[in-house]
This record gives sequence, C-alpha cells and structure tokens, in this order.
Amino acid sequence: MKIALLGCGTVGSSVVQLLHEQAADLTARVGAPLELAGIAVRRPGRERPDLPVDPKLFTADALGLVKRDDVDVVIEVVGGIEPARTWLLEALGAGKSVVTANKALLAEDGAVLHDAAAQSGADLFYEASVAGAIPLLRPLRESLHGDRVTRVTGIVNGTTNFILSAMDATGQSFTEALEEATALGYAEADPTADVEGFDAAAKAAILASLAFHTRVTAADVHREGITDVTATDVASAKAMGCVIKLLCIASRVDDAVSVRVHPAMIPRTHPLAGVVDAFNAVYVEAEAAGQLMFYGRGAGGAPTASAVLGDLVAVARNRLTGSRAAKESAYADLRVRPIGEEITRYHVCLDVADRAGVLASVAGVFARHGVSIATVNQAGRGDAAVLVIVTHRAPDAALAATVAELRSLDAVKAVASVLRVEGDQP
Ligand code: NDP
Ligand code: HSE
Repeated sequence: MKIALLGCGTVGSSVVQLLHEQAADLTARVGAPLELAGIAVRRPGRERPDLPVDPKLFTADALGLVKRDDVDVVIEVVGGIEPARTWLLEALGAGKSVVTANKALLAEDGAVLHDAAAQSGADLFYEASVAGAIPLLRPLRESLHGDRVTRVTGIVNGTTNFILSAMDATGQSFTEALEEATALGYAEADPTADVEGFDAAAKAAILASLAFHTRVTAADVHREGITDVTATDVASAKAMGCVIKLLCIASRVDDAVSVRVHPAMIPRTHPLAGVVDAFNAVYVEAEAAGQLMFYGRGAGGAPTASAVLGDLVAVARNRLTGSRAAKESAYADLRVRPIGEEITRYHVCLDVADRAGVLASVAGVFARHGVSIATVNQAGRGDAAVLVIVTHRAPDAALAATVAELRSLDAVKAVASVLRVEGDQP
C-alpha cells in the first residue's frame, strides 16, 4: 500500500515517526505493508535529521506525487484551502483514498470533496480535523447513525481553552494569558484563527454536518472570539458559580440546525467545566443514547497523528478488500437558522452613572424588548457604578436590540460586555 504524504510539519513528522515505529503492527492490522511513496513539503532540501526516512523521498512537487500511478492513498497534512483542494480533488478524481486533517478546507468546501469521493468510489476520512486524537467523527458518522443527535456542545480549541483556564485560575487578563500561551508554545505567533474563533467555527461546521446529516459550512456558523473576555467577566462568572469557555454549540431545533461558536458562561457542575488547559472535550446529546462525553488531546503532533493513522488503517483495509466506507450523509438538508432566532440567557455588564432613575431606565429598555431580568447586581464606584444583569432566556435578536438601545442611553457610559449563559441554572 503506497502512501503519498503531503506535509511534514508538526503532524506530518509524527505520522512518519509512527509509520516507522509501528510498521509491523500496522502491516498486520491492514494486511499489507504501508510504504511511503514520497513526502511533499515546501522546502525539500531542508535537513530533517530526526526523521527515519530516506531524504530522497522529499519533493516540492505535491501534485506530481499525487498523480503517480503507484500511489494508493494520499495523506494531506499541509492545511489551508489551496493548493490542498487541487491536490485532494486530483487524488479523489483518480480513485485514490484521502486522509486529511484539514478542517479549514473541509469546512469551506467539504461538499466538493465529498462529491468527488462519491463519484470515484474513493474514501475521504478526516478524523484528525476536529479535536485531534479524540475519536469523535467516526462515532458521529457510524456509531450514532441509528440514533437522532439533538445537540453537540464542545470545547474544540486547545489554545483558547488554555487561555480561559489560566484567566479563571489566576485572575489574569486576556493579554497576560495569551502571552503565557505563546511562551509555552500553545498559541501560534499569529493567534487570530484561535482567539477569534475561526478554528473552532470550522470544527463546528464539520461536527454539525455529521451530527445533523446536513451540509454546514464555516460561513453558516455564528462566530465570536474570546478577545473581549475580561478579568471582570471571569470574576463575575465565578461569583455565579460559572466558568467561561469558548463553546461550539450545534443543535437541532425542529427542522433547522443552529451552529454557533462564542464564549459562554457554564455552571461549574457542567461536564465541560472541568476541561482545563489545552484539552478538548465534546458533549453529545442524542435521543436514545442520552449524554455522551468525548475527552482528550485536541492538538499536537503525536495525538493528531494517532487520528491520521487510524484513518489510514481504515482506508488501506478498504482498498485491499475492495470495499469503501459509507458515503457522506447529507440527506436531511436542514435549514441553518440565523443567530437572531437563538434563545439563551445573557450576562450583561454595564458602566453606568450612579444616580436616581438609572436602574429604572435600564430595566425599561430590557422590558421594551421583552427580555426578562433574572438578577441585578450593582457595585458603586463614586458617582459611577457597574451593573451586572443576568436575564432569563430570550431570543438573541431581542437581546441585540436591547444592547443597541442601552448604548444610546445617556446614563450608560459603556456596555462593557455581553456573554451568553449556557446550561442549567447554576
Ligand atoms: P505545519 O505548519 O507544522 O506543517 C505544514 C507542512 O506543510 C510543512 O511540512 C510544510 O513544508 C508543508 N507545506 C506548506 N506549504 C506547502 C506547499 N505549498 N507544498 C508542499 N508542502 C507544503 O502544520 P501542522 O502539521 O501543524 O498542520 C497540518 C494540518 O493539520 C493543518 O490542516 C492543521 O489545521 C491540521 N491540524 C493540526 C494540528 C496540530 O496540532 N498542529 C491538530 C489538528 C489538525 P516545510 O516543512 O518545508 O515547511
Ligand atoms: N490551534 C488548534 C487548537 C490546533 O489550539 O486547538 C488544533 O486544531
């Protein structure tokens, strides 16, 4: 079984290591030896002394490698949309099975890859694209196919979970926690994809597509990052018995799906509240199965390579036996509903003037938009005050209209933060 490996960075080099270390076991499990036909990288001449492979295998011509007649399976661990899409369409079009960790491509253009795989009869596997080592996509794609998934709630980005866990543990600011995450190698030099929620949104689209048998793209996902979460929000969450997490939430509501990524307060008793540092966890609710929890390492070379090799064994076995995995299941074709229709609770923090009538005028704005207040806390600071209001469940559109009107009130100096509150009442 000949493999073209596209990419040999963090994940690709661990794939090479595991292929080497576990060669005998993999041969026994697949029924044939797995052999690297070539490794495509940007800089083929770069020294890679720790890798147990012949340097002659490296090439800069990824497309040429994919097209080689002797290649059976293509593993793509480069990332990004192009040229990865061209390579994978070439492979699938020629009936070669594909294993990829590329969440960005799957979330943007998964449909075109699935269509190409369906036409040629090739396998397209991507377990590593969401939550790294955690076996999650296969359970959604296979084990839960007899059930009806109602909701998937996940912590699917390790970098942001590390930052929010550090803020919760030490009271530090977002900037201080990001600096720590960068120094420890969790956050990349440009952390935008993680802290602004793009990475989690891509994963949310993949999870929602599988859970609800519907094509969902990253553009369908409502996305908010964690850059505006303050130490005050974290302290306020603590006072309520909550913790702030960047959540991906995909749920089925009647004949629609809702998919969103945003920071949210969850009770400390929630199964996801104890998931700290760079770990990932996904909580799946299904009608017959009830609640399921998947937990583990969502990133890193070896954990991600574990998922890649699991897929490799599956597609290699299928090729040897002439079989293939089930095709994409997108028959439900549900509507993706806009965030305005979402119903949840909110934590709103306002900087206000501390004088007679302010609380009444603020409460009046909530009332005018039909948003019912559950609790109000005020901390005075001279002639100013911080008002923290927690609402009962209300539609997102109503809350957005409330916030817009609050901003126009003279007495409201700033809407310091708005956070959703998920889970049962703490
Ligand atoms: P890296 O940046 O560490 O490695 C990328 C590799 O791709 C390098 O070997 C690079 O070559 C090669 N490459 C880049 N551009 C080209 C090109 N145009 N032609 C040929 N080769 C190219 O990425 P990661 O290993 O971290 O990530 C790979 C994929 O896995 C991404 O899709 C990522 O989202 C996904 N993923 C990563 C996880 C992680 O923990 N890192 C976790 C889960 C998924 P060179 O070595 O010469 O620079
Ligand atoms: N940047 C991602 C994270 C890597 O922090 O979780 C895994 O996809």
